[in-house]
Amino acid sequence: MTMKIAALLAALTLGSSLTAPALAQQAAPLASSTTGTHQSAQARADALVKAMTLEEKLQLVHGYFPPLAKPVPPIAMIPSAGHVPGIPRLGIPTLRESDASLGVANQIEQRKGDVATALPASIATAATFNPKLAYEGGAMIGAEARAKTFNVLLAGGVNLTRDPWNGRNFEYLGEDPLLAGVMVGEHIKGVQSNHIVSTIKHFALNSQETGRTVLDARIGTAELRESDLLAFQLGIEGGNPASVMCAYNKVNGDYACENDWLLNKVLKRDWGYKGWVMSDWGAVHSTEKAAINGLDQDSGQELDDAMFFDTKFAEAVKAGRIPMARLDDMVRRILFGVIDSGLMDDPVPESAQPIDYARHAEVAQRAAEEGIVLLKNQGDLLPLARTAKKIVLIGAHADVGVLSGGGSSQVRSVGGAPVEIPLTKGAAASFARITWHASSPLKAIQALAPGATVTYLDGSNPKAAAAAAKRADMAIVFAWAWRTEAQDPESMALPDDQDALIDAVAGANRKTLVVVEAGGPVLMPWVSRVPAILQAWYPGQRGGEAIANILFGEVAPSGRLPITFPVAVDQAPRPEPLGLAELHAAEAGRDAGDKTVYGMSGGVASFPVDYPEGADVGYRWYAAKNRKPLFPFGFGLTYTAFRYANLKVSDGAGLTVEFDVTNSGKREGADVPQLYVEAKSAAGTRAYRLAGFEKVRLAPGETRRVSMTVDPHVIARFENGAPGGQTAGWVVDAGTYPVRVGHFAGDAALAGTARLDRAAVRP
Ligand code: BGC
Repeated sequence: MTMKIAALLAALTLGSSLTAPALAQQAAPLASSTTGTHQSAQARADALVKAMTLEEKLQLVHGYFPPLAKPVPPIAMIPSAGHVPGIPRLGIPTLRESDASLGVANQIEQRKGDVATALPASIATAATFNPKLAYEGGAMIGAEARAKTFNVLLAGGVNLTRDPWNGRNFEYLGEDPLLAGVMVGEHIKGVQSNHIVSTIKHFALNSQETGRTVLDARIGTAELRESDLLAFQLGIEGGNPASVMCAYNKVNGDYACENDWLLNKVLKRDWGYKGWVMSDWGAVHSTEKAAINGLDQDSGQELDDAMFFDTKFAEAVKAGRIPMARLDDMVRRILFGVIDSGLMDDPVPESAQPIDYARHAEVAQRAAEEGIVLLKNQGDLLPLARTAKKIVLIGAHADVGVLSGGGSSQVRSVGGAPVEIPLTKGAAASFARITWHASSPLKAIQALAPGATVTYLDGSNPKAAAAAAKRADMAIVFAWAWRTEAQDPESMALPDDQDALIDAVAGANRKTLVVVEAGGPVLMPWVSRVPAILQAWYPGQRGGEAIANILFGEVAPSGRLPITFPVAVDQAPRPEPLGLAELHAAEAGRDAGDKTVYGMSGGVASFPVDYPEGADVGYRWYAAKNRKPLFPFGFGLTYTAFRYANLKVSDGAGLTVEFDVTNSGKREGADVPQLYVEAKSAAGTRAYRLAGFEKVRLAPGETRRVSMTVDPHVIARFENGAPGGQTAGWVVDAGTYPVRVGHFAGDAALAGTARLDRAAVRP
């Protein structure tokens, strides 16, 4: 330690009387995430804690919800998700929190006229299988947030998709822990490259929205480590988020935000996490229990049943029911995150700064283009010939925009919302509207086919649509299924009789293409009757342009499914959300004045949701049950073909797999070769698990050798140790491991075997 640092630490330790600017200046050289180490951030956080009064410490452990909070001096609250007043005397910044999964959010336009760049849904980013795009998206959002003076982004949603109908799947990164973990880590790294804080959320097992604030998610702890928690673990290792947001639901009997096992044992002890745990909004149910069991900060406290971390908390500390050492630890963790992310040394501007929206729109467009998945292309209908003379587009407001997902992640995008439909009922009604981004597929298609007559019909009349399709060279039906936070859909079928519309149009014109705008899979009873299907997800504010570019081959499709698409709902572990009946009963019993805020399930009693599939989530469940899905995980077509050859497996103490990828077709394109390794889980099941992937762009005829080194966590089983939470960690058993390289889960274009030594990996 240099003399300067030592002197400053000593000054702070003694409760310094330095002025704020002097402190801030002297603190600056000590560390930032770019120049310093975790250790020095830790030392600085320690020193600050020692310099703080009790009141100052108490101030940091609870945040306000601006729409409901009384004004808190001295810094004005921006209408957004959260606000934690800073401590100017010590240079500790006010924390201004905004949702930011897909862009800087502005639900129901709480800040009139404040637009931001809207990326495609996170599931579309996952479908790119391109970590670089996840990083670029995060970096873009972070830059806009800084320019809008936000410094804590509630981003990094990584709950695994266990149920294809989950209302929030669009905000997450799919069903596989490796893919989701890598992508979320890159996204967080991108956000924090702006020297602001990102969360990773919702820790853990917030896998359905129905009854999310009361349900008890039940699963074996080793199985949870091998699935949802592995995604978090990889995301935290890769992205180093300054904060972890704990979830609404209970996990094995205790609320996630007061769950000793999750917060103290897994996150802080086993993973050595140094940042802070903030609650989800309205997810706190106690004072002492939550504090002792690992919660460091109560967010949006006005949304809790009582303000547990305000006066009640202060009283508990003064009475010794919460030890001062624990309060110090909470504050130290918050400060560590603020320092380690770089925020302390590089505070956000005090007033809004200009933003290069044109450049940021390109980031959104690239992500949309790489995330769109071509599911079917019979007779090479796509790419569309520019010679078509008459094209009719049908449905989903494709004349003016593309659909987005609802809830706290909703971005008011640049260009505004050409269609916006308020909700009249349901848990999302208070904070979500069905919103289209202004990115017109019609205009984008017209621009690429200037010689054609391209028209639009809203699809409300299937007969008229069929007649128009008959008169055209080809028909493109835009199908839509809106999803939102706080609600699960009651059916995975397309709403509003769209199946009948597609049938009618496909019956009238053989060349009917369906573009699906949805937050995940929808049922496709018409799959065999249409020659081509594009899964466009919610493609963000440049979605129209991205769809058009894929249709006309300006860009070759390269997205792959990050979740399995079922033929029917009963193929998945739970055909519908649990607790729906309870929710309806509670809704019926509530009087009209009793509003649900932020999806709080007022009046619903706790109910269990069992996850008997354990770690066999998604494609592993289908393999175990021998069920053939409609489209498998990892699947996606393109306009050329790729071949794999010359597999080489290097095994022993570790596992590296090499092979050649060749573009054997006639067009340039990008492929996503996938490595699957069969391994045994804690539950004793054997399943192929995704162990590596890479996006490879190749010219026709070009070959590239690809090498993938496997992270042992992905092929290990988790071994629980002695009772009482003592953990033994990850074990790779000595033995043989079948290895496959394929185009999707279940494919075995190349197959081999690895012989691995026993290895134990820390928990
Ligand atoms: C959501 C979080 C979000 C928070 C603040 C909650 O309802 O679950 O993802 O960050 O609200 O808006």
